[in-house]
Amino acid sequence: MAAQLKMPAAAYARRRRQLMRMAGDEAIVVVPAAPERVRSRDTHYPYRQDSDLLYLTGFPEPEAVLVLIPGRMHGETVLFCRERDPAREAWDGPRVGPEGAGEAYGVDDAYPIDDLDEILPGLLEGRRRVYYHFGRDVEFDLKLIGWVNRVRAMMKMGNRPPHEFLELGHLLDEQRLFKDRDELRFMRRAAKISVEAHAAAMRAVRPGMHEHELQAELEYAFRRHGAEPAYASIVGAGANGCVLHYVANNAPIGDSDLVLVDAGAEYRGYAADITRTFPASGRYTKEQRALHDLVHGAQRQSLARSMPGNPYAEVHQAAVETLTEGLLRLGLLKGKLEQRLADESCRRFYPHKTGHWIGLDVHDVGDYRIDGESRLIEPGMVFTIEPGLYVRPDDTSVAAKWRGIGIRIEDDVLVTRDGHEVLTEGLARSAEETEAFMAGHR
Ligand code: GLY
Ligand code: MN
Ligand code: MN
Repeated sequence: MAAQLKMPAAAYARRRRQLMRMAGDEAIVVVPAAPERVRSRDTHYPYRQDSDLLYLTGFPEPEAVLVLIPGRMHGETVLFCRERDPAREAWDGPRVGPEGAGEAYGVDDAYPIDDLDEILPGLLEGRRRVYYHFGRDVEFDLKLIGWVNRVRAMMKMGNRPPHEFLELGHLLDEQRLFKDRDELRFMRRAAKISVEAHAAAMRAVRPGMHEHELQAELEYAFRRHGAEPAYASIVGAGANGCVLHYVANNAPIGDSDLVLVDAGAEYRGYAADITRTFPASGRYTKEQRALHDLVHGAQRQSLARSMPGNPYAEVHQAAVETLTEGLLRLGLLKGKLEQRLADESCRRFYPHKTGHWIGLDVHDVGDYRIDGESRLIEPGMVFTIEPGLYVRPDDTSVAAKWRGIGIRIEDDVLVTRDGHEVLTEGLARSAEETEAFMAGHR
C-alpha cells in the first residue's frame, strides 16, 4: 500500500475555525484529552486519544487540554500538555512539550498542563458561554466547576464569570458528521486496509481452524499497514454468528459452518466497519445461500435509498421490507406482508438497525433525528449499511434446517452530491462472488 497519510495542519486549523465561528465570540471551548486507563495493576490499555481532540488537533498525548477562545487577541487556540521530562521519556517515549507544541500542532500558545489551574480561570473570565462535554469525565467536570467558581469569587473585582454552560456535542457532533476531504482520504485508507484483511480471512479459512486464527489473519493485515482494530473483531463460526457482539473468538470452525466476520481497521483514528459471512468449506448450503441472498438483497435495497435528499430512516425501512418479504417467502414468517410489517415480526430475526454514522468513532457522532423526524441524507455523511438475519439454534418455531444460521453483510457508504460511493468496495459480497473468490484460493 502507498505511504502513510499525513493530515495537513491546515485541516485542523480549518476545523477549529469552523467550530469557533459556530460557538461565537463570547464563547470558550474546553476539550480535554482522553484519560489513560488501567488494564491490570500498573499496565495500561493502549492509549486512544479523545476523538474530538484528534479531530481538532491530532495531538496524540494524554494529560492535555485544548482551549479555544474565539476572537481572543493574544491567540485563539491554547494547548496545555505535559512538559518534557528526559527521565520519563526514557521509559515512555518522547513528549512534544509546550515548547514544541506550538509549531507541531499549529496552536497559538502552549502551556504546561500543571499550570492549567492557574491559567484557565483567567481564560474563562469575560466569556459568556462554556462549551464542554459535561458528564464524560467526572473528575474534569469538578475541576471546571472549580475554575468557574474561582472567577465568580472574584466578581467583586469586576470579573464576569461565564453563565451559560452548553454541551459541546451540539456544535461539534454536527460538524464531525460531515467528513471533509482530508478525513475522507483517511477513511478510504481504513476501508482499503479492511477490505484486504477480510479477503485474507476468506482465503485462509479452513474447517477445523479456530476462530482466533482468522482473527489473527485480519489483524495481521491491519497492523501491517499501520492500523489497528477499530473495535473488538467478531469472528463467529456457526451459531456464534447469531451472537451480535460475539468476541470470544475461541471456538473451532465446523465443516459446514458459516463464519461471520465483523472487523474493521482504525487508521490514524478513522474507522472502517465491514462484515462478511462466508462458508468455511467454500460452498454455501442451500439454506445458508437462501438467507445470504436475502440479506444481500436487503443491502442492495438499502443502498438504493442512500441518496441525498432521502430520509435516513428509509435506509432501515428498505432492509426491513425486503427481509420481511423474504422471510415470508421462505416460510420463516407466516401471514400477510402488511401484517408482518405492522407488527415488526422480522425483529425476531433482525433485532438491530441497518447502520450508523462512522468516522473517528465506529459508531460516530451526529443526530439521526431532528425535531422527532428522520433527518435527510446529505453529501459528506458516511454510514454503514448492515442488514442481517440471525436464527437462534434453539428456535423451534422454524424448521430445523434454518436454525443456527447467522448472517450479516456490512459496508461503509459515503454520500456524494449525486449519489453515493461504497468505500469498502472491492471485496466479494454476494454468495456467487464469495464462492468464486474462495474457489480461487483453495
Ligand atoms: N462492529 C460494530 C457494528 O457493526 O456496529
Ligand atoms: Mn457497524
Ligand atoms: Mn460491524
